[in-house]
Amino acid sequence: MKKAALIAGLALASLLATPALAAEGDVEAGRAKAETCLGCHGIPNYTNVYPTYRVPKLGGQHADQIFAALQAYRSGERQHPTMSAQAASMSDEDMRDVAAYFAQVKPGKKEPRTYGGNPQAGQEKTQVCATCHGADGKSPNPAFPVLAGQYADYLAHALRAYKLGERTNPIMAAQVATLSEQDILDLAAWFAAQDEGLNLLSTEAR
Ligand code: HEC
Ligand code: HEC
Repeated sequence: MKKAALIAGLALASLLATPALAAEGDVEAGRAKAETCLGCHGIPNYTNVYPTYRVPKLGGQHADQIFAALQAYRSGERQHPTMSAQAASMSDEDMRDVAAYFAQVKPGKKEPRTYGGNPQAGQEKTQVCATCHGADGKSPNPAFPVLAGQYADYLAHALRAYKLGERTNPIMAAQVATLSEQDILDLAAWFAAQDEGLNLLSTEAR
């Protein structure tokens, strides 16, 4: 990992240490509003097609991250046909409520599948990521998403999206600039392999 990238990461992390908090949502209202979301986010290994990757786990994610992602889909800043359609019909209150519900879902199990990545090699590359996401991807700071236990192929998809500029975030754009495809696969495999991280939105998880 490049030393300059590490220093830049540390500086950004301290700048972002105080996140803009989304107001608290209502967990019970969110549970009811999330029924349609379970059809994709609650099914093990449910797959997006073109490109093919697992639909991300949302259980146990920071509420602020869920809220920010839904806002970005609704504004068009983040593009995905299904998610844009889902977010288009949601009010800010709906977004806060589902975010509050998703955030309190109990932790899940690690993902054993590596999708071509090597978790050990990935661990060695996490030094700079750990500043914000935590060494095990269980980011304690709501300004940074939890990565632990997420599907490795979704994590790799997200990293490629930042690299290609399909997802725009100045912090992550800087982070991925120097990553090779193998770095991406290895890092994704490492974070996926962490226990007690993200979970599905399933009946059992509730
Ligand atoms: C038809 C399947 C489908 C349904 C239904 C669906 N989603 Fe999604 N969702 C996806 C896919 C695929 C992605 C990944 C899109 C991308 O790559 O940006 C996603 C991404 C997300 C993300 C971003 C996660 C992250 O880690 O950044 C959030 C938040 C989200 N969905 C919330 C919801 C909510 C809330 C609902 C219900 C109101 C919902 N989704 C319904 C398929 C679905
Ligand atoms: C300076 C802080 C910082 C550092 C360092 C950092 N990230 Fe991030 N990361 C973020 C933020 C903030 C987001 C949310 C960006 C957004 O809204 O798209 C994010 C998002 C992500 C996502 C998307 C998660 C999702 O659910 O869609 C992945 C994957 C990710 N980072 C992996 C990494 C990896 C791998 C590294 C190390 C190479 C790294 N990050 C370094 C701050 C950081």
